[in-house]
Amino acid sequence: MAEEQARTPLFSALREYVARVRAPLHVPGHKMGRAAPSAWREFLGPNALAIDLTEAPGLDDLHAPEGVIAEAQELAARAFGAWRSYFLVGGTTAGLHALILAACHPGEAIAVPRNAHRSVLGALILAGVRPHWVRVAFDPDLGIATGPVLTSLEEALSGAAAAVLVHPTYYGIAGDTAAAIDLIHRAAVPALVDEAHGAHFPFHPALPPSALELGADGVVQSLHKTGGSLTQSSLCHLGHGSRIAPERLQEMLRLVQSTSPSYLLMASLDLARRELALGGREAWGRALELAHEAKRRIDALPGLRVRPTDDPTKLLIDVRGRSISGFRAAERLWEEAGVAVEASGLTYVLAVLSPGDSREQIDALVAGLERLSSEGDVPALPPEPPWPEVVLPPREAYLARKKAVPLRQARGRIAAELVAPYPPGIPVVAPGERLTADVLDYLRRAADAGWHLQGPADPALRSIQVVEE
Ligand SMILES: Cc1ncc(COP(=O)(O)O)c(C=O)c1O
Repeated sequence: MAEEQARTPLFSALREYVARVRAPLHVPGHKMGRAAPSAWREFLGPNALAIDLTEAPGLDDLHAPEGVIAEAQELAARAFGAWRSYFLVGGTTAGLHALILAACHPGEAIAVPRNAHRSVLGALILAGVRPHWVRVAFDPDLGIATGPVLTSLEEALSGAAAAVLVHPTYYGIAGDTAAAIDLIHRAAVPALVDEAHGAHFPFHPALPPSALELGADGVVQSLHKTGGSLTQSSLCHLGHGSRIAPERLQEMLRLVQSTSPSYLLMASLDLARRELALGGREAWGRALELAHEAKRRIDALPGLRVRPTDDPTKLLIDVRGRSISGFRAAERLWEEAGVAVEASGLTYVLAVLSPGDSREQIDALVAGLERLSSEGDVPALPPEPPWPEVVLPPREAYLARKKAVPLRQARGRIAAELVAPYPPGIPVVAPGERLTADVLDYLRRAADAGWHLQGPADPALRSIQVVEE
């Protein structure tokens, strides 16, 4: 296994090509860097531009792989415990689009947790698939979604062609994915898992089991988030015995991915896979030790507490005890200590650790946290958003003729856009849902309170896009 995983077929082929080619009479037109903007060339150095190639002799074709890309994908499948693995150059977003297009036919329904990433909603729009929304449980202190409510998942599975799970959440909460997959399989439909934040799970026993280990049919992982590859590079896997046919998935990947996939991104996947397979356990062991040390030190600071999650490398720091909002805490960490955290909410900041961190970064975080002083009362957590009334499939509403109407005149109309306030990051309304009095009241309060609103064309939400009727 180790000997095989030491190979990097795609990266090696790129190096061979660079050494051998005398006349690259093909695109990209920067010709392996020679015609690239000089500031760019100086900044990157010659090597990155030299391997920014497209299909050339010996470099295979992502859309019909038979050579080095096929080999590199097979090595990834073995490293991650998959039946088949596919390189993605459009991030996990592209993988979720392809998986949902592969698993469902137009007009069918899919069970989707309400806290699913907006790329899942994008897939429903592209595929013409209807959501059977699944309720999610909330952490009462921090107001973040934890996992799907299993009874709601069971209901949503009735008449659904597939189901989506998020494992783990952005905050490292894995929940009972094994039980959820079991329910989905009892309904005899594929379990599609968004494992954007869990690409490192297979490589250390103290981390939660990976979705593939739990029997998922299709999984997408942002290797760029935790696995060390370049931003936008991800992996899509089919599990052993998957209910999704590889040919159909490959067809959908051809639909959603560029015909000029970046070899830099793909080579970074090849190399990151080798690194994880050979040294992942040691590297993530170090990251976990560092995370435990960070937790101990932060918990010892008055008014601060790291909320334990399933992935200890996600430091979800509850700042309520300092009478400061998470948003302000994140701003001050940046301004006063040069510490940039991954995310913040009303009650928390989220710091993400990886093998790329060391004690120096923890010292900076702890020093920045120590200086946080009270800024008065923190606004109360928002209540759970109202439950949606779905009228049209998201595709029909999103692609319909639409118009902006003032929020106060929108009652009873059908939303043509998504609005997801942060916190709690759950859509209050998605395209195709009725703008009821409750929904509009919630949205008005969110806009008045100045929460960040993801989705609407009018960011201040004075107006909202509705389907023309
Ligand atoms: C839970 C989740 N799923 C999917 C995605 C999309 O991943 P990508 O950015 O790799 O396209 C993200 C991105 O942040 C995410 O947080």
